[in-house]
Amino acid sequence: MKSKPKIILTYPIQDEMIARELKPHANVLIAKSPSQLQALLKNADGLITLLSNRVDEALLSHAPRLRVVGNFAVGYDNIDLRACKTRGVRVVNTPKVLSRATAELTLALLLAAARRIPEGEELCRSGKFIGWAPKMLLGLELKGRNAVLVGKGRIGLETARLFRALGITVEWITRRDRETTIRAKMKRAQILSFHTSLNPSTRHWLDSKRMKFLPQDAILLNTSRGPVIDEQALIRALKSGKIFAAGLDVYEREPKIPAALRNLDNVVLLPHLGSATRETRAAMAKLVIQGVLGILSGKRPWNEVDLGRRLEVS
Ligand code: GLV
Repeated sequence: MKSKPKIILTYPIQDEMIARELKPHANVLIAKSPSQLQALLKNADGLITLLSNRVDEALLSHAPRLRVVGNFAVGYDNIDLRACKTRGVRVVNTPKVLSRATAELTLALLLAAARRIPEGEELCRSGKFIGWAPKMLLGLELKGRNAVLVGKGRIGLETARLFRALGITVEWITRRDRETTIRAKMKRAQILSFHTSLNPSTRHWLDSKRMKFLPQDAILLNTSRGPVIDEQALIRALKSGKIFAAGLDVYEREPKIPAALRNLDNVVLLPHLGSATRETRAAMAKLVIQGVLGILSGKRPWNEVDLGRRLEVS
């Protein structure tokens, strides 16, 4: 009888799926520290990682038998694809199943930023609410506003559907747009929302130069990856009132959030919750497990990452 493959997880991603989908088919071990991970990788066939785990040559060099890395995320900027390719290690991720949850969180950030929900909540919690007032915490109405979405992948498309349901018009910025077109669209971006992967072409995509083109009532949203925005440029824009507000789920040096950002009232801050619903996390766990087991049994799962892909704004 063929022995079961050995699969290491850097975190017990979802107990039910590990018990139901993974344990019947594999010997499963959870690494409790980086040094334990290195030791366990010595004779591992598969590895399931989080987006906060760096998978690079330094790590892979401890894993001579490794055949597949399953990233419990749709984004895989934490994985050195070239190093994986060189070593013949295949990669799977969790596309599709998290698009709706991430789009819903983008909408939540938009509503919170436009209607100043955290400021209102703080007023109530602090006991400082002393009664209705005509000029208290005035926000922006969303119907009829124009949103520009950077990245036309599944999450961007799902977000557009939700925005349109509120009467928001949607435009896209994609890799085909030249700088003049990008600037023209930015000028119309009353809402600018990021739905792209992080790669060399999207790092600091929004810098202080491009920021200048946003209208003064703009709301900036980021549920993709922090480094697509120059955080210092964003802080300056928020501080000076150059834009109305921002809603952020991701940060440039996650999990670090600069104090200058934390001290601002016109920014809504969330701790990377894009896919954090019970339904989605279960679906992600099932998908990553199926992908890893699929590769280990000689298949080509649909969620395999193309290691030769050119990376840019989708
Ligand atoms: C979350 O950020 C993901 O990439 O799945």
